[in-house]
Amino acid sequence: MKETLLLLLKEADGFLSGEDIGRKLGISRTAVWKYIRALRQDGYQVEAVTNKGYHLVQGQDILTAESVQAYRKTDRMGKRLLVLDTVDSTNNVLRQLAEEGAEEGTTVIALKQEAGRGRRGKTWVSQKGDGLFLSVLFRPSILPMETSALTLMCGLSVAKMLRELGFDAWIKWPNDVKINDKKVCGILTEMSAEMERVHYVIAGIGINVNHRQFPEELKDIATSLYLETGQTWEKAALAGRLLQWIETYYQAYLSGGFAAIQGEYSALCETIGQEVMVLGKTPFSARGLQVCADGALLVEKEDGTKETVVSGEVSIRRKILGADNNESRAGGGQF
Ligand code: BTN
Repeated sequence: MKETLLLLLKEADGFLSGEDIGRKLGISRTAVWKYIRALRQDGYQVEAVTNKGYHLVQGQDILTAESVQAYRKTDRMGKRLLVLDTVDSTNNVLRQLAEEGAEEGTTVIALKQEAGRGRRGKTWVSQKGDGLFLSVLFRPSILPMETSALTLMCGLSVAKMLRELGFDAWIKWPNDVKINDKKVCGILTEMSAEMERVHYVIAGIGINVNHRQFPEELKDIATSLYLETGQTWEKAALAGRLLQWIETYYQAYLSGGFAAIQGEYSALCETIGQEVMVLGKTPFSARGLQVCADGALLVEKEDGTKETVVSGEVSIRRKILGADNNESRAGGGQF
């Protein structure tokens, strides 16, 4: 009920009387007042004016289960949703739930992570207030080697969500999302599997939302939605939209594999045509040619030979003026 009231107030054009709210929600005016008080306890500023009613002060960035649910329009993704204050890592919390049998689409969001993890064992600094830290559970019937494409699917979902909001977002293969050539989102995918069977996959997504600044070593390579626009973004709304995009692309992925989203992914992948360093056992420089139907990256080496690069086995780095740029650190984390 609280989330329906929240949605009603969010969508209202001005004040709504207690009587109108009560009628729309089928509850008494006393009950309306009770839920308004509950919203205020969650931190929402709700104005109350005699003879006019209630008005929600717009643009408040309050991340609660109700606020995300008010924006969520999905069937499965985020249907079971936990918004927690402080965790070690949302991926860890979700792994525990997955082990207990949590259903596909279960989502964990935290306001703060004390041991947020990035790729390759790096940390993802996750202070309260700035970022969106979210993990989603998938239970696809696929082989372990096919899971990397799921990560790409999540990168595409984030890029689409940001583009829908007007950002010029691009994907750095396999799944970093960038705006103005700076990282705004990183994704850490973890799975539990046997040789032939995936038990579950957890996609942990970190988006730099309202960071006003980054530490010196990050400020040239990381950005946030706030820094790009000068405005505060509502993380609950972002989460709601992101879950929608994930549901759409996951559905496509289940029906047709990565090939079903390969075209859309490729259209937003900045790595195609770019000079990159492929960092594996023996690093080499190459040019990104195309993202294949299984999500691997086809590159052309300097001697003209072609090679397929698989996400998870190597990482790539943009090559600038014939030299490598420094190993980039994500906004709040590292990669
Ligand atoms: C990267 O290194 O680029 C990946 C960063 C992934 C960070 C997210 S935040 C939510 C989830 N929980 C974690 O501990 N990590 C991921």
